[in-house]
Amino acid sequence: MLSDSVAIIKLTLLCLVLCALFLPLIIIVFLKVKFAKSYRINNKNIITIGIFHPYCSAGGGGERVLWAGIQALQSKYKNVQIYIYTGDLDADRDKILNNVEKLFNIKLEDNVNFIYLFQRKWVETKNYPYFTLLGQSLGSLWLGYEALTLLQPDIFIDTMGYAFTYPLFKYIGGCKIASYTHYPTISKDMLRHVYRRVIVHNNRQVIARNPFLTAAKMMYYKMFAFLYGIVGRTADIIMVNSSWTEDHINSIWKCPLRTHRIYPPCDIEKLVNLPLINDEEKGDIIRIISIGQFRPEKNHPLMLRAMYELRSIVDENTWQKIRLILIGSTRNNDDEIRVKDMKDLSKHLALDKNVEFQLNISYAELLNALQQGTIGLHTMWNEHFGISIVECMAAGLIMVAHASGGPKADIIETQTGSRNGFLANEAEEYAQIIACIIKMTTNEKDIIRNAARSSVNRFSTEHFEKEFIRTLEPLFRSE
Ligand SMILES: *[C@@H]1O[C@H](CO)[C@@H](O)[C@H](O)[C@H]1NC(C)=O
Ligand SMILES: *[C@@H]1O[C@H](CO)[C@@H](O)[C@H](O)[C@H]1NC(C)=O
Repeated sequence: MLSDSVAIIKLTLLCLVLCALFLPLIIIVFLKVKFAKSYRINNKNIITIGIFHPYCSAGGGGERVLWAGIQALQSKYKNVQIYIYTGDLDADRDKILNNVEKLFNIKLEDNVNFIYLFQRKWVETKNYPYFTLLGQSLGSLWLGYEALTLLQPDIFIDTMGYAFTYPLFKYIGGCKIASYTHYPTISKDMLRHVYRRVIVHNNRQVIARNPFLTAAKMMYYKMFAFLYGIVGRTADIIMVNSSWTEDHINSIWKCPLRTHRIYPPCDIEKLVNLPLINDEEKGDIIRIISIGQFRPEKNHPLMLRAMYELRSIVDENTWQKIRLILIGSTRNNDDEIRVKDMKDLSKHLALDKNVEFQLNISYAELLNALQQGTIGLHTMWNEHFGISIVECMAAGLIMVAHASGGPKADIIETQTGSRNGFLANEAEEYAQIIACIIKMTTNEKDIIRNAARSSVNRFSTEHFEKEFIRTLEPLFRSE
């Protein structure tokens, strides 16, 4: 009797295991048959490109990459049809394209079409109070499935970092896959925060305080990172937007040979062509310019401390000519409080005659301020990139940036012979460098200014488009 029931249990278990093993296989076979032909546009002379960008009308830096990329593809290939998968249901084609022209000054040709996705809600963070990463990623798989049923392209390009869609499009859809990642879904930094039990937005207090929950969360993150690596590696061509992202993607996806760093296009054309003006035209005032929102991580107090140190190492006559000009927008009340704190601190350090605030200024005023400036100042620790640094350099300022993150890895070169700016850590170091720049002859300054201006070319739209095309070229070769 007993041995009978044991046998039954064993048999049931075996059945369950077999089902669990075969069910995915059955689903995959079913999907492969379903997508064998039906959703493809069958025209041998046309290459269809599907670009996955569910938030295509957001108008940010990620969208600049999208539109500049499309512009590049259009100018290189005439036999392509481009389809953008978007979840912006309220925007029709003309409205989106007109906006692109207005916002980014990019005019696209006619072969762009939009494919509307109705399931975008599945990738929104707010739907996943717990297990957000996994939830969103599975959601993106579902959204990707919807996309695939609407159009099965020859080449699939994801420009928003939804890596879980790649295996779907590759193995079921039979597409070639390229990706452009701005920000890894999970990074070593996040794992480290959990491990050290730091409380941050993705690590709640309850978890940080409880060792068991911390261990469980570590497991979850590790498992997720493992999955993220598996799906990410299925891409044929991987593009990343900076050294920072490259490091993280390489450590999780582990295919550095297929990974290319392509800086996103910055709109620096106007700045690079701004005429340089000489010191007399600047009224013999040495302006040190900082551009940045008044957010805590921008570390404006360090600028004031640097000024305080500077005062002690330059003579009084020079000091009278120095101005620190803080340019930035204030978005909310907190920002305004920080501006007020900054003003108080500058009074406290007796710098208030040498520090100016220019809040919410127009683009024309910004150009003027950049032109009148001599030195650019940046103090944020570990910034991922630092577009304001690039802008200052393009405008001809001599940049002193924080020796960490993107400024150090991607932007500023300090080797003699190719120096295009300076890096510093502490207030005294900043002060010494600034004093040293002030003492330079015009010729010495010009050498750095010119090096800076030509070095930022690698962040121009032109350079981006060239690299984007060069990197994707293998996908267009017919096998
Ligand atoms: C890359 O993307 C991230 C996330 O959007 C952004 O913070 C960073 O500044 C970008 N890097 C560059 C070089 O634009
Ligand atoms: C700057 O603009 C923001 C929002 O547009 C506004 O709330 C703030 O009061 C402005 N600040 C100044 C100093 O004009």
